[in-house]
Amino acid sequence: MALQAYTLSPCVLTRQGQGMKGLVLSGGAGTRLRPITYTSAKQLVPVANKPVLFFALEALVAAGITEIGIVVGDTRQEVRTAVGDGSAFGAKVTYIEQEAPLGLAHAVKISRAFLGEDDFVLYLGDNLIRDGITELVERFATAQPDALVLLASVPHPERFGVAELKDGQVVRLVEKPAVPPSNLALVGVYLFSACIFDAIAQIQPSPRGELEITDAIQQLITGGKRVEPHIITGWWKDTGRLEDMLEANRVILERLEGRIEGEIGEDVRLEGAVVVEKGATLRDCTVRGPAIIGSGTLVEHAYIGPFTSVHDRCRIVHCEVENSIVLADSELNSIGARVESSLIGRGCFVGRSTTRPRAHKIMIGDHSRVEVSD
Ligand code: G1P
Repeated sequence: MALQAYTLSPCVLTRQGQGMKGLVLSGGAGTRLRPITYTSAKQLVPVANKPVLFFALEALVAAGITEIGIVVGDTRQEVRTAVGDGSAFGAKVTYIEQEAPLGLAHAVKISRAFLGEDDFVLYLGDNLIRDGITELVERFATAQPDALVLLASVPHPERFGVAELKDGQVVRLVEKPAVPPSNLALVGVYLFSACIFDAIAQIQPSPRGELEITDAIQQLITGGKRVEPHIITGWWKDTGRLEDMLEANRVILERLEGRIEGEIGEDVRLEGAVVVEKGATLRDCTVRGPAIIGSGTLVEHAYIGPFTSVHDRCRIVHCEVENSIVLADSELNSIGARVESSLIGRGCFVGRSTTRPRAHKIMIGDHSRVEVSD
């Protein structure tokens, strides 16, 4: 122990008070959110009209971390366009190219030049943690473990990395085990010292062909490093699927504060927390919050129900929508039944057929899903 204290290993160097960095992963194919992810990065799908990725950037900045690397893949251009140089978030963003989705530990490995010897937060850009990470960053700075992992109790641990604890310490981690040793899933936010690079150098790709961060943390444990768990009790979601997006949308909208900046015409009823952005127009409609109506959107002869986010420049006319996310430039027009629990992509049209024969006429992308009510 005494020897380690005097050795200039990366682990010791980081203790000398350099600032922490953030590493946000924003690559991946997003297969479970197709067809939306054919044309959009999964991290840029909005909840409460804000891309999931932005919540990660805001959480880092709120914790005092402003030097942020974003690892990008095929959707690099879209992510760059959305985030820019980070100044809109009060951050300085560096983009790091990952040539293929070769795993979370691979993403960390290729970010070595950016991270240097600093402690850092690894934040998966599709994870949403409602209560932020400030407390964890403070705990890491005070306790100075080699790694701090976030865990949450989940009903299906086999879908995640899973931790086994003994006397409050992490003794084993396994990636998506068929028989989980506990119901504690690894949340997609990790705090590391530079020791993680040595651990990554010692692991091999998993059966799915990826360098798993879970295996790298297991390697830290095997090597006698201090890996501390933090069990989170607040809401957290890995937003991989439609149901997750809708749940995330609900959870974020639950804390919405009403704000009316758009134009409210005749016969409009607003109930509960409703945001009407500047440039939106409402006429002859009821909006029951929590709900958010984006800029340039028209809502007319319509009902917008709780937990609905309608993005910019949409038209919601002669129809009812609830518990749904509608992306920019889409139109829902004269639909008989209420639209519920739906995710509508950008520039879509869903409406009543005006020509004969009266029939469902559908053009949808690959891997789309439409459920009609009658
Ligand atoms: C990744 C990690 C897994 C973790 C999860 C959290 O899974 O490998 O350990 O529990 O993120 O979102 P993936 O999204 O790559 O399947």
